Amino acid sequence: MDSVTAIVPMGLGHLRQVLDLGHEVFDVTAKPYTSWSLTSVAEHLDSPDGACWVALDSDRVVGFVLGSMEFELRDDWAYLEWIAVAPDMQGRGIAKRLVDICSDALFARGALRIVTDVEGRNTASATLMKRSGFTAAASVTLFVRPNPAEPQTDPEVGLPPIAPGTKRALIRRGRLAGDNRANRPR
Ligand SMILES: CC(C)(COP(=O)(O)OP(=O)(O)OC[C@H]1O[C@@H](n2cnc3c(N)ncnc32)[C@H](O)[C@@H]1OP(=O)(O)O)[C@@H](O)C(=O)NCCC(=O)NCCS
Repeated sequence: MDSVTAIVPMGLGHLRQVLDLGHEVFDVTAKPYTSWSLTSVAEHLDSPDGACWVALDSDRVVGFVLGSMEFELRDDWAYLEWIAVAPDMQGRGIAKRLVDICSDALFARGALRIVTDVEGRNTASATLMKRSGFTAAASVTLFVRPNPAEPQTDPEVGLPPIAPGTKRALIRRGRLAGDNRANRPR
């Protein structure tokens, strides 16, 4: 258990490091309906919910959690959407502390439930959430049928293209990267 790392509310000054850490650790191909972008961080930062926190080792952002009171159409459900800890700082209980402080803030704002979605192969995230009091409520499997006439760029996923209007809406909501950063070489 790491008690030296400070957990503080995320501020504008943390934005660059949060964005970079997310690009470093998130596998955005795992949940292709969501993606990591400046918009997703900025929209969370703009929210009044007090559910965005960073873990600091001195001035270095070594972890963050981004939550909000916005879960689809449910006004009384909250969404813990993003959490990450720098690889060299994992396994010290930092993510658990981030989940707890974010959850406390969301319950204090009136959330009846907090939802988070975990991709099936993400054992670290699933264990973290179970240890933090979350229980599995629904499993969704993304079934994908590729067009046999189209060459498949990714045989495992084979995602259909997104219509321009839908794409703009998703980018506005921060669910899809609009700046091609998700595809940049790492
Ligand atoms: C998921 C993640 C945030 C966990 O961070 P962390 O600081 O290492 O987690 P903690 O140290 O707080 O561990 C919390 C619990 O999860 C368990 N855990 C953490 N990593 C694990 C792993 N790879 N395998 C199994 N269990 C793991 C810990 O043992 C602990 O359980 P315990 O209390 O019974 O010991 C981190 O692995 C990460 O950043 N992953 C990449 C980003 C990601 O996938 N985020 C989730 C999707 S948004």
